[in-house]
Amino acid sequence: MWERTTFDPEQSVRENPSAPLCFELKKWRLAAVWLREEMYIFRDRCPHMGASFEGGRIEDQKLVCPKHRYRFDPRDQDPNIAPGCLSLLEWRRSGAYIEIDLK
Ligand code: FES
Repeated sequence: MWERTTFDPEQSVRENPSAPLCFELKKWRLAAVWLREEMYIFRDRCPHMGASFEGGRIEDQKLVCPKHRYRFDPRDQDPNIAPGCLSLLEWRRSGAYIEIDLK
């Protein structure tokens, strides 16, 4: 199910590419990062032990979880990679906002 944001996450992460943007949409906790000129959106739940990425950092083009500092690359979608991969969500532009497929 596609849901529309009430702000533009892409603009926010482009303005602050050194940290993830964590936000809520329809009671889902989501996070967005800006890496290699592209925005990635995923559930705000670390694959390691479920922590929020709020307060995390982007280092060497990877998202660093603030809890135990595991590093995640949204392009890595191999389920065999420890401690797991980010749950990427599809998104598309809709005027000044975006729509995210919450599935
Ligand atoms: S909860 Fe994220 S690295 Fe442990």
